[in-house]
Amino acid sequence: MPNLKVMLSRDQIQKRVAELGARISADFHGQPVVLVGVLKGATIFLSDLARNIALDATFDFISVSSYGSEKQSSGEVKLNKDVDNSMEAKNVILVEDILDTGLTMSYLLKVLRAHNPKSLKIAALLDKTSRRILPIHADYVGFEIPDHFVVGYGMDAAERYRNLPDICVVEE
Ligand code: IMP
Ligand code: MG
Repeated sequence: MPNLKVMLSRDQIQKRVAELGARISADFHGQPVVLVGVLKGATIFLSDLARNIALDATFDFISVSSYGSEKQSSGEVKLNKDVDNSMEAKNVILVEDILDTGLTMSYLLKVLRAHNPKSLKIAALLDKTSRRILPIHADYVGFEIPDHFVVGYGMDAAERYRNLPDICVVEE
C-alpha cells in the first residue's frame, strides 16, 4: 500500500478552479462554450469547473489511451471514443487533468481540429512543464507542479484513487 501525501488540498483546488471558471466566463462573455472532458481523469475537474462558468455551456467527452506502461506514455495514442456531438463552429474548451509530455494533448488537438470548431482552447488542471516533449501550452492552467506522480481529484494509479478529494503524491 503506497503512502499518499497531500500536494494540493481540496480547498486550494476549489479556490483555483473558481478563478479559472471566472476567467473563462470573462473570455467568452456572451458566447456559448462546449466543455470537452478527457475521460476519465478530467471528469471531476470538469464538473467543478463547469459550475464556475457563468455561460451557456454544454458537455462532451472524448477518450484516448496511450500505449506503454501505466506511468510512462509511449507517445502512441489511440482514440477510444470521439466526441458525440458536432463541434462545427463551436467554442471548444478541452478539459484535461494533466499536461505532461504533451503527446496526448497534441493528439487530442489534432482530433478536435478535424471537427472544425470556431475556437479551441485547453484547460489543464495540472501542468508538469519540466516533462514537456512537444511545445503544447494550455490556455488555462490550474497549477504548475514538479515531476511527481499524483493521484486523486479524478486522477488514478491503475484506476485507483480517483475519488480522493485532495491531489496526492504517491510515495512507494
Ligand atoms: P502526456 O501524453 O505525457 O502529456 O500524458 C498526459 C496523460 O498522462 C494525462 O492525461 C494523464 O492522464 C496521465 N498522467 C500524466 N501524469 C500523471 C500523474 O502524475 N498521475 C496520473 N496520471 C498522469
Ligand atoms: Mg488523462
